[in-house]
Amino acid sequence: MIEISASAPGKFVILGEHAVVYGKPAIALAIDRRFHMTVKGDDEFRINGEVADLRTNPHMKYILGRNGMTSVSVQMDSRIPTGSGLGSSAALSVAFSAAVRALGDRSVSEREVAEEAFEAEYFSQGRGSPMDTSASAHGHGIALNVSGSESDRLWDISKNEHTWHVSKIEIPAMTFVVGYTGIRAATGPLVEKVRKYKDSNRFAFDIINEIGQITLEGMDALRADDVVKLGELMTKDHKLLSILGVSSNELNKLVNASLPYAYGAKLTGAGGGGSIVVLTDQPDKVCDAIASRGGMPFVVKTGVDGMKVSVKRE
Ligand code: MEV
Repeated sequence: MIEISASAPGKFVILGEHAVVYGKPAIALAIDRRFHMTVKGDDEFRINGEVADLRTNPHMKYILGRNGMTSVSVQMDSRIPTGSGLGSSAALSVAFSAAVRALGDRSVSEREVAEEAFEAEYFSQGRGSPMDTSASAHGHGIALNVSGSESDRLWDISKNEHTWHVSKIEIPAMTFVVGYTGIRAATGPLVEKVRKYKDSNRFAFDIINEIGQITLEGMDALRADDVVKLGELMTKDHKLLSILGVSSNELNKLVNASLPYAYGAKLTGAGGGGSIVVLTDQPDKVCDAIASRGGMPFVVKTGVDGMKVSVKRE
């Protein structure tokens, strides 16, 4: 009997969510909250011991199908809140893809897993970019569609009319606080909302271009270790995302409460609910400010490894 253990980290987005769906630049960092699972062969599909319906888990169904399997037994445990903007779904797909590939004795490279997990997320949501799955597979920091040295290029992923060039980036030591609103928000409908707005309104299209532009400025600020500039750009990005209609009162409240103690703050991920991320050197004050407005604060560590997989034979 073979049992596979796999894990993959969540992430937050420093700059560029939503615009990245249209091939614009974005920057994402993996965090020290992971999705863990063990997977073994079974003649029924089971999650944590219970028979489960693959139709309600389309990303897992896609991954099994691509690997010529119809069912497995999965034990899973996650420290990434679902629908929190911290990449829980991508981390699940990355860990599951790595585990199923290993179970089927197929190669398990970061690139193959990032691509397969992206296709699974796309199959399940009908839209999106490979940012979250690439950040989770590789870990550390990644930039999409930002020019840099060729040796930093990890992989390219194309879908429909877009190609995303994914590179690894070195991030200086910085402290980030996450503030979770406690409100779960599904990514698909928010991405669809932005698409409709963009397709019907030239102004929304310009906002998406502007997000791309400030992400490139943010990359320069990161390279120069300029936290003041980076923070300003994050707060500006939050305002642009609000104009696109993906912020909420709860998110704005947490951003405004954090800003007196921060270089910058913004929603992270799809928005709607989920979380904010704050760049600060006063994490305790930011945590208190977030908690006083009803949010759940936690300091995140970056610079963490991507997917991990190991095989146990009994
Ligand atoms: C979600 O974490 C990020 C979005 O840009 C969607 C995507 O890139 O797939 C909103």
